[in-house]
Amino acid sequence: MDYDVIVLGAGAAGLMAAATAGQAGARVLLLDHADRPGKKILISGGGRCNFTNTGTEAGCFLSENPHFCKSALARYTQWDFLALIERHRIAWHEKTLGQLFCDGSARQVVAMLVDECSRGAVEIRLGTGIGDIGHGDGLFRVAGATAPRMVVATGGPSIPKMGATGIAYRIAARFGVPVVTPRPALVPFTLGPDAKAFRDISGVSCPVTARVGPTSFDEAALFTHRGLSGPAILQVSSFWKAGDPVVLTLVENAMEMLREARRKAPRSRLRAALSEHLPNRLAEVLADRIGLEQELANSSDAELERVARHLTHLTFHPTGTEGYAKAEVTAGGISTDALSSRTMEAKAVRGLYFIGEAVDVTGWLGGYNFQWAWSSGWAAGSAC
Ligand code: FDA
Repeated sequence: MDYDVIVLGAGAAGLMAAATAGQAGARVLLLDHADRPGKKILISGGGRCNFTNTGTEAGCFLSENPHFCKSALARYTQWDFLALIERHRIAWHEKTLGQLFCDGSARQVVAMLVDECSRGAVEIRLGTGIGDIGHGDGLFRVAGATAPRMVVATGGPSIPKMGATGIAYRIAARFGVPVVTPRPALVPFTLGPDAKAFRDISGVSCPVTARVGPTSFDEAALFTHRGLSGPAILQVSSFWKAGDPVVLTLVENAMEMLREARRKAPRSRLRAALSEHLPNRLAEVLADRIGLEQELANSSDAELERVARHLTHLTFHPTGTEGYAKAEVTAGGISTDALSSRTMEAKAVRGLYFIGEAVDVTGWLGGYNFQWAWSSGWAAGSAC
C-alpha cells in the first residue's frame, strides 16, 4: 500500500479533502489530468473568486434530498472557510447578498489551498489521467498507486474546455453507485425566433424578478444575442425543465406606475413612460411589442391593465439552454441516497467517497457551490 488516501481531482473539493486528510496524518496522493490545480477557482467570480456566502444554509441548495447537505455545511461552515482565508491574510470584501470575494485575485485562494496541502505533505501529481481503477483486497488502484480509500472529486461536465469531464459518473457506475441524471445549471437560456426583438437589444441588463414555476429570484437579467442571461436568469435556470415558461417582472407596481405617468404627463406616450423605469432600448422594444399608440391621457384603465400585465409577466419560452459549454455548474450527480451525509462515503463500497460538484447537491449562484466543495471536502478529508 503506497498511500492512505488517493484523491481524484485537484479542484476546490479535492484540494480541501487532500489538505484536511494530510494534516490529520494520512499519506495522501492528489491526482489531476490538468496542468495546474484549481483551474475553475482561477476563473471564478470574474477572477476574484466568490469563495463563500455568509447566508449559506441548506435552503440555498438543490438536491433530491434537500437535507443531505446539512451535516457537512454545519461541520465546516462559511465562517470556518473565512477564518482560513484570514489566516492566510487574503484581503476580502462582501459584494452583495452575502457574497464574499477576494480583493486581489482568485490565484490567492488556489495558492492557499496548495499551501494547506503542503502542510499536510500531500503529493500532488498533475497531468495524470485516471485510467482504469482497480479494486480488490480492500485497496483501490489508480494510475499505478494503491490506497484503502479513494475520494472522487472530479466535479461535473460543466465547461469541458476547463478540463471538466463526467468521469465521476463512470466511476459511480463501475461501483454500482446510483446517479441522479445530470443537467446543466446556472446556465443562460436560448430563445426562439419569436424573441428576435430582444436579441436585438443584446447587452441590455435591468433588475427583474425572474420566475420559473414557484421559484423566483430578484436580481439582474441580461439580454444576449442568443437569449437571456444575468444572475436572476442563471438562478432560475437551475429549476427549469424543458417547456417551462420563464416569467420576468420588470416593474413591480406597474399599474400604479402607469396611472401616475398618465396623471403627471398625460400627453406622453408609453415609450417615454417606460424609459423612466427601464433602459431606453428595452423600453423601445417593449413599447413596440405592446403596441399602445395613443397618448396616455387617451388610454383607458383597461388598456393600462393590459400594458401592466406585460410589465409584470413578460413571458419567454426558452428553446433550451446554452448547455454544459456555458453552465457554471452541473445539477444532479451521485445520488445522496448512496452516501453518508457525515463522511460522503458510499454506503455500499467501503473506502469510496464522492464530494463537491460530482454529488447531487447544487448551490444557488453566489459562493454556495464553493462552500459545498469546502464543506463536503472537509467532511471526507477528516473521515479518511
Ligand atoms: P472542479 O471542477 O473544481 O474540480 C474537478 C477537478 O477534477 C478539476 O481540477 C479537473 O481537472 C479534474 N478532473 C476532471 N476530470 C478528470 C479526469 N478524467 N481525470 C483527472 N482529473 C479530472 N462557484 C462559486 O461558489 N463561486 C464562484 O464565484 C463561482 N464562479 C464560477 C465561474 C465559472 C466560470 C464556473 C465554470 C464555475 C463557477 N463556480 C463558482 C462553480 C465552482 O467552480 C464549482 O462549483 C466548483 O469548482 C466545484 O468544485 P469541484 O472540486 O467539485 O470540481
